[in-house]
Amino acid sequence: MAAAPLFDLKDRAYIVTGAGRGIGAELAAGLAEAGACVAIAGRTAADCEKVASSIAAKGGRAIAVPFDARDEAQCAALIAEAERAFGRLDGAVVNHGIGLHRDALDTTRDEFANMLDGNLTSYFLMCRELGRRWVAEGRPGSIVLMSSNASFLAYDELAAYGVSKAGVDQLCRQLAAEWARHGIRVNAIGPGYMTASMKGIESIYDAPEVKAKILPKIPAGRYGALRELLGATVYLLSDEAGYTTGQYLAIDGGYSLI
Ligand SMILES: NC(=O)c1ccc[n+]([C@@H]2O[C@H](COP(=O)([O-])OP(=O)(O)OC[C@H]3O[C@@H](n4cnc5c(N)ncnc54)[C@H](OP(=O)(O)O)[C@@H]3O)[C@@H](O)[C@H]2O)c1
Repeated sequence: MAAAPLFDLKDRAYIVTGAGRGIGAELAAGLAEAGACVAIAGRTAADCEKVASSIAAKGGRAIAVPFDARDEAQCAALIAEAERAFGRLDGAVVNHGIGLHRDALDTTRDEFANMLDGNLTSYFLMCRELGRRWVAEGRPGSIVLMSSNASFLAYDELAAYGVSKAGVDQLCRQLAAEWARHGIRVNAIGPGYMTASMKGIESIYDAPEVKAKILPKIPAGRYGALRELLGATVYLLSDEAGYTTGQYLAIDGGYSLI
C-alpha cells in the first residue's frame, strides 16, 4: 500500500510576504517546488513580478501581489486576491521586515516606532486579516511568522529590531492560543546569521573583520543558507504539524545555545 507522502503541499495555496527578495523569495520558490501555489507579496512590484516569473518559468504557479503590510486594507486585499487566483488559501509565511542597526542612544522615537510598525504591527494586521477570513469561512489555516534569535538574545545596536521580533514571538503564542479552537495554527521560525543579510543591517554581517569575530561563536562554524529555512517552513505549514502551534523554532546553527 502506498503511503500518502509526508509534508505534502501539492495544490495548496500560500501567501509569502516580503517575497520579492532574500528569505521570502527563497521560501516562495521552495514552496512552489513542493507543488504549492504561491502569492508573492511585497512592496516593490517589479521584485515580486520577477520572483513570480522565475517560479512560472520552472513550471510552478505563482502570482505577484504588490502590497504594504502596514496597511490593513492592503492585507485584506492581498488575501482576497490569493483566494481568487488559487480558489483556496491554506496558509501564509509572514516574513517581510526592515532592519535598523543603531545604538539605542541614537535611535529616535520615529525610528523606534517605524521598526515596530514595519516588523510587528504589520504582522498583527496580516495575521488578523488571515484569521478573520478563515474563521468567517470556517476553514483551517497555518501561519509561519519570521522571527529571529534577536527576539531573545541581545545584539549590539539592534534594540528596536530585537524588540520588534520579541513582539513577534509573543504574538505567535497569543494568536496560537486564541485561534487553536478555529483550527488555525501559528508558529515562528528564528534564523540566526544567514548568508544573505537583510537590507539595513548588512554591516553587522558581512565585513570580513565582523565575520572573523562572529564565526567562532556559531557552533556550526558557518552562516546558514537561506534554503536551510525551507524544511521547517514546509513542516509547519503541512498537516504533519497539525498538533504543533505557538512554537518558536531556532534555525541558527546553534548560536543561541552558547
Ligand atoms: N537575513 C537574515 O540574516 C535574517 C536573520 C534573522 C531574521 N531575518 C528575518 O527574515 C525576514 C526576511 O529578511 P531578509 O533578509 O530576506 O530581508 P530583505 O532582503 O531586506 O527583504 C525584506 C523583504 O520584505 C519586504 N518588506 C519590507 N517591509 C514591507 C512591508 N511593510 N510590506 C510588504 N513588504 C515589505 C521588502 O520589500 P521592499 O524592499 O519592496 O519594501 C523585501 O522584499 C525579516 O523578517 C527578517 O527580520 C532575517
